[in-house]
Amino acid sequence: MSPPCGRVIFRPLPRPCIEPVRIGQAAQDQRRFIIKPMPKDALSPLIEVTDPIELRRQIVAWRAQGERIAFVPTMGNLHAGHLSLVEAGHRYAERVAVSIFVNPLQFGPKEDLEAYPRTLDADRQALVQLGCDLLFVPSVQTLYPRGLDAQTRVEVPGLSDILCGLSRPGHFVGVATVVCKLFNLVQPDIAIFGEKDFQQLLILRRMVEDLAIPVEVIGMPTVREPDGLAMSSRNGYLTPEERAVAPALYRVLNEVAAALRSGLSIKEAECAGIESLRIAGFRPDYLSVRRAEDLAPPGPEDRRLVILAAAYLGRARLIDHVCLDR
Ligand code: PAJ
Repeated sequence: MSPPCGRVIFRPLPRPCIEPVRIGQAAQDQRRFIIKPMPKDALSPLIEVTDPIELRRQIVAWRAQGERIAFVPTMGNLHAGHLSLVEAGHRYAERVAVSIFVNPLQFGPKEDLEAYPRTLDADRQALVQLGCDLLFVPSVQTLYPRGLDAQTRVEVPGLSDILCGLSRPGHFVGVATVVCKLFNLVQPDIAIFGEKDFQQLLILRRMVEDLAIPVEVIGMPTVREPDGLAMSSRNGYLTPEERAVAPALYRVLNEVAAALRSGLSIKEAECAGIESLRIAGFRPDYLSVRRAEDLAPPGPEDRRLVILAAAYLGRARLIDHVCLDR
C-alpha cells in the first residue's frame, strides 16, 4: 500500500543528475539534414517584418532558390534557451525565421499577459548576433483581426486537458491555434521547439500529425542556469530569495528519478517529490510521473518515463521535467 503524501522525504543528492533520455530526435534528425556551416563573418542582415504579405514574399523568394526554412516561434524576451533553438535552426536549414508574439489567446484572464516581459530591442540584437535571417513580429490585430473570441481554434484533445492544461484551461488551445496559424504564415520546412515545455512539444507534434501539416517538428534540450534552473522568461519574476530557492525544482525532479530507479513506487515517489517541493518553499501545482511518449499514466511495461512538475514560487509559476528510462 502507498504511504500518504509526505511520509517519504528525500535526502539531497550529492550532485544533480543529467537527464538520461530525451524525446527530441535532434541527434537522429541531424543526420538527415545537411549541416550548413555558419561563417561568423558572413552573417546576412536580419529582415524584420510585421506584415504577412511581406513575410510570404521573402519566404517564397528563399524557397525559389531552393533554400529550406527553419522556424522558431517565441514570445520574445529571448534568453540562451531560445537562442539555442535559433542556433539549431542554422544546422537544419539554410534560413532561420523567428517570430516574436506574446499570444493573448494562451493567457488566462488572471495570468501575466500585461506583465509578460517585452524586450524587442535586445531580442533583435541577439538575433542579429546569431545570424538569424528573418524576424516576424505580427500585431494582435494581424493575427486575430476578428478578435480573440471569434478566432477559429485548434484543439488537441486529451493531451491539452491534463497537467498544465488542468490549471491553465484553454492555454494549450491558445498555443496550438497560434502555432498552427504561424505555420501557415511562415510555411517552414522545420520548426524547432524546446523540450523545456515538454507537454507543449508533445501537443504540437500531435497537432502536426493530426492535421497533416507538412512541417518537421524538432525538440531541443532544455538550457539551464549553472545551478540547474531551467531558463525561462518567467524567472525574471523571482525575488533574490525566491531565485535562491528555484533550482530546487530541478533538484527534486532528479531526486524523484533517482528514487524510482532505486525501486520506490510511482505513487510514493510523486508524494515524496511534492512534499520536498513544499519543504523547499514552493506551492506545488503538480508533480507527476508519466509515459514520455504520450503523458499517459505509465503501466508496468512502460520503460520511457518523464517526471513533470509545475510549482509556484512567489508570482512565478515554474515548470520543469526530467526523463528517465527504467
Ligand atoms: P516561449 O516561452 O517564448 O518559448 C519559445 C520556445 O523556446 C519554446 O519552444 C520553448 O520550449 C523554448 N524554450 C524556452 N525556454 C527554454 C529553455 N530553457 N531551453 C530550451 N528551450 C526553451 O513557448 C512559447 O514561447 C509559446 O507557447 C509559443 C510556442 C511561442 C506559442 O505562443
